[in-house]
Amino acid sequence: MGTTLITGGTVVNATGTAEADILIDGERIVAVLARGSRLLGADLASSVDTVLDATGKYVIPGGIDAHTHMQLPFGGTNASDTFETGTRAAAWGGTTTIVDFAVQRTSERVQDGLAAWHELAAGNCAVDYGFHQIVGGVDDDSLAALRGLADEGISSYKLFMAYPGVFYSDDAQIVKAMQVAADTGLLTMMHAENGPAIDVLAAQLVEQGKTDPYFHGIARAWQLEEEATHRAIMLADVTGAPLYVVHVSAKQAVAQIATARDAGRNVFGETCPQYLYLSLEEQLGASGAEWGGFEGAKWVCSTPLRSRAEGHQDSMWQALRTNDLQMVSTDHCPFCMKDQKELGRGDFRAIPNGIGSIEHRMDLMYQGVVTGGLTLPRWVELTATTPARMFGMYGTKGVLQPGADGDVVIYDPAGHTSIGVDATHHMNMDHSAWEGFEIDGHVDVVLSRGRVIKDASGYVGRKGDGRFVKRGLSQYLV
Ligand code: URP
Ligand code: ZN
Ligand code: ZN
Repeated sequence: MGTTLITGGTVVNATGTAEADILIDGERIVAVLARGSRLLGADLASSVDTVLDATGKYVIPGGIDAHTHMQLPFGGTNASDTFETGTRAAAWGGTTTIVDFAVQRTSERVQDGLAAWHELAAGNCAVDYGFHQIVGGVDDDSLAALRGLADEGISSYKLFMAYPGVFYSDDAQIVKAMQVAADTGLLTMMHAENGPAIDVLAAQLVEQGKTDPYFHGIARAWQLEEEATHRAIMLADVTGAPLYVVHVSAKQAVAQIATARDAGRNVFGETCPQYLYLSLEEQLGASGAEWGGFEGAKWVCSTPLRSRAEGHQDSMWQALRTNDLQMVSTDHCPFCMKDQKELGRGDFRAIPNGIGSIEHRMDLMYQGVVTGGLTLPRWVELTATTPARMFGMYGTKGVLQPGADGDVVIYDPAGHTSIGVDATHHMNMDHSAWEGFEIDGHVDVVLSRGRVIKDASGYVGRKGDGRFVKRGLSQYLV
C-alpha cells in the first residue's frame, strides 16, 4: 500500500477548514501539513508512492453511517442489500464505516444473533463495519447477555417501542434494559413510536378500506412519536441511562429532545435524509391515483415521512443547525418493489418498512451546505465526527489527524451528481427513493485505511477489504 500524499485540497474537519496536505503511510494518517510548510513541496511529492491531486476540492474524513440494516428480517422478507452490495454502495457514496444492527428476537439468544451478523459480514464488506445489537426480546437471558456486549466491541443496543409482536418492548422491559445500560455504559438507541396505539389506528383504517401506502403515514401520527419520545426520555431519566433516539421525523419529537438536553439530560437524536427532503404528501399522496396509489410503497418507512405543510422538514434542518439533533444516518433498509414491497398491495401493514439511501447520504447532506444553512465543518460533524464520538470510534475514525485511519474522501464541490437513476446507483434495489435528485457536488476519490477503493474509474476496492471495528463506549459519556 505504501505512502500516499493528498495534496492541494481544503481539509475539512469538524473543527474547521485548512489548506493542508495529508500524508498517509500504510493504513494510517501520519501528518496533516499546512500548505507552505517547508516539509512539503516537490521533495515530499517525489518521495511518496502515490500522489492524489485534490486541488479545488474538499478533503474530508470518510463518512460514518451509524444506522444501517443489511439483510434485516422484516415483514416476511429480508432487506435486499447484503453486506457485500450495501457496503460497496457505501463506498461509492463516500461512506467508509457503517454500524449495522445485529438482531435478536423473542426466544432467540443475543449471542446467536450477534454471531449470525458476524458471519454475514465477515469477508464480504467493502468498508469497515461495526454492530449495534437489536434486543427484540428483553428477558433474563438477554439482559444478562447485554452485560457482556461492551467487551465484544458492541457498545450500543436498540429497543423498539413500535412493532408489537416483532421487536416491541413494553415499558417494564425498557426499564430493565436501561438499568443494565446505566450500569454498563451501553448507549440505548430507541425506536420511539407508540406501537400498540399505531396498530389500533392502522387496523381501523384498513377496515375502512384505506389500504394504500399513504395510510401508513396517517396511522403513525406525529403525536405517537412525540409521546413515545417523551416516555423514552423519562424512562431513561429514572434509570440514569443515556438515550439516543433514532430516525426522528416529527418536529414535536425534536422539541422533546431539545427540552431534555436543555435540562441537562444525556439525550441525543439523529435524523435521516428522507426526513429532511421527502414528505408524506409529495411521495405517498401525489400521483393521479386516489391517495397516491401503490407507488408510495417505495417510501414506506418508520418513523414515516411527515407532512411538509406541518413544517417537519424545516424543523429537522433547523435542529441540525442548532445541535438539537446531532447526527444524520440513513436507516438504510432497502426492499425491492417486486416480491417485497408488493407483499403489502391491498394492506399497507404488510409493506416491509424501509428506504435505501446509504449511497447518497454524503451528497444529500453536502446539499445542506449548498442550500440548507450548514457549514462545511458541520457537514463533516453530522456525517462523520459525531457518529465516531457517539459510538466509540473517534480518533481512529471521524477525523483527519495523525494516528487516524486513512479513511478519506476527496469531494468535488464543482462536480455534479444525478442520483437515484437506475444506472447510477449501486444499491441492490429495483428502484430508488431518490430518483431524479440533482446534487451540486461529487464524491471523487474514496480511501479506506489508506487504500483507494473508489476513483474516477469507479469502485476499485475488493470484497473483504472492510474490517470489524471493535468500538469503545460513547465518547460523549466518558
Ligand atoms: O422503516 C424502517 N425504519 N425500517 C428499518 C427498521 C427500523 O425501524 O429502523
Ligand atoms: Zn427503527
Ligand atoms: Zn433502523
